[in-house]
Amino acid sequence: MTDKYAVIGNPISHSKSPFIHNMFAQQTGQDISYEAIESPLDGFADTIARLRAAGYKGCNVTVPFKFEAYQLATQRSGRANDASAVNTLIFEGDQILGDNTDGVGLLADIEKNVQYKLLFKDALILGAGGAAAGVMWPLFNAGAGIIIANRTLEKAQTLAKAFEGAGTVFAKRYEDLAGRRFDIIINATSSGLSDELPPLPDGLFKPGALAYDMMYGKETPFLKFARAQGASVIADGLGMLVEQAATSFALWRKMRPDTRPVLEAMRKQ
Ligand code: ATR
Repeated sequence: MTDKYAVIGNPISHSKSPFIHNMFAQQTGQDISYEAIESPLDGFADTIARLRAAGYKGCNVTVPFKFEAYQLATQRSGRANDASAVNTLIFEGDQILGDNTDGVGLLADIEKNVQYKLLFKDALILGAGGAAAGVMWPLFNAGAGIIIANRTLEKAQTLAKAFEGAGTVFAKRYEDLAGRRFDIIINATSSGLSDELPPLPDGLFKPGALAYDMMYGKETPFLKFARAQGASVIADGLGMLVEQAATSFALWRKMRPDTRPVLEAMRKQ
């Protein structure tokens, strides 16, 4: 019998997850279906209850429900706890298992696809919302030193505080970045959605630096800025999307798909 999965978000019509998971299923010969479902903003728990009643095996969760998914999970992985957010649910009997594959997805993309080594690198993360929280620990564990910059300094300070005792992560305002240089700058703000650029000073990129935008689908003002400022490697978030999906698929199906042909197919689209 076909096992059912879905991605839940609002809005969701432009989600590429069904395309990705259907390609994974074809490639691995897994008998699954995967669809995009829009949940009412005030009806996430009901949507999940409906899926469970209909025999779904699990789902991905995207904006704006990742924190609600975290709260709804009856068991959470360490990765989910680190991010206080869940993007993958597994329905097992009366349990709802919650995991977060965003951070490992970013890491896999940077190290495997972009082929950039994070060890001993100075990383700057722009933004201190859910997207930033999801990638902090994986970047830190990969050996990068981290500065978080955010419009609202308090939010960056709260994220940095999570590392107390574990290592050095600093919180800054954008204007405090003047005169500093970084190996990697990751845009985890939602500024690209409104075609805006965080107020970044000039000269932030070291020679050979990587500029990474977690958004995909268009060249954001941040990536344009990075190009103009001489960043050597430019990457959007498409690879992260495919890699996080592969980890979700592996959690559900106990087998890891090959991401390369899927990423190639999406780049051609
Ligand atoms: P997400 O889950 O996508 O991270 P979020 O939790 O709403 O969404 O966080 C959005 C992040 O983008 C925040 O860090 C926000 O900065 P503030 O905390 O100061 O609001 C940042 N952001 C959004 N638009 C921005 C812009 N035009 N310039 C700079 N930062 C922006």
